[in-house]
Amino acid sequence: MWIFGYGSLIWNPGFSYHDRRVARLDNWVRRFWQGSTDHRGVPGRPGRVVTLISELAGDCWGVAYNCEKSGSQRVMEKLDLREKGGYHRESVKLNFIDGSTTEGLVYVAGPDNSDYLGPADEADIVTQIILAQGPSGSNRAYLRNLANSLRSLSVSDPHVFSIESKVLAKISTQ
Ligand code: SIN
Repeated sequence: MWIFGYGSLIWNPGFSYHDRRVARLDNWVRRFWQGSTDHRGVPGRPGRVVTLISELAGDCWGVAYNCEKSGSQRVMEKLDLREKGGYHRESVKLNFIDGSTTEGLVYVAGPDNSDYLGPADEADIVTQIILAQGPSGSNRAYLRNLANSLRSLSVSDPHVFSIESKVLAKISTQ
């Protein structure tokens, strides 16, 4: 079983696996459009975390983990609990760098979940991320970990890097 991570699952999968490979999803893009009230924010003051938005000709790079089939039920139960703040599982086609493909699972938070925030001005996203804090830590740390993880994979994501640079610029003037 392959599981694709594009957010916190990149730097903190929290389950064991026997292979980890950089992979790409086609026709999806990563966006800070999901509210987090259980990890990087609290009810009434949600943080912003990433979800996947369907976009023709878009793509999203992340990491695919290969787990033993025998342990897959336990892994999914663990991840279902962790991603319960609006995410559901979808089956997707994963593309590897060598051109091969496989089926995998990904957690997506769609516009119909109650924590979904959707698009906003970047300045507002930046302010929200700077202020938010939840049981898993600060929203700033989530952004920093994501941006650092993408750099370590040599992946470029203009949406994430633009928000990161604006957060850093704003913090430096505070
Ligand atoms: C993921 O990492 O694949 C899901 C979103 C998140 O937990 O940040």
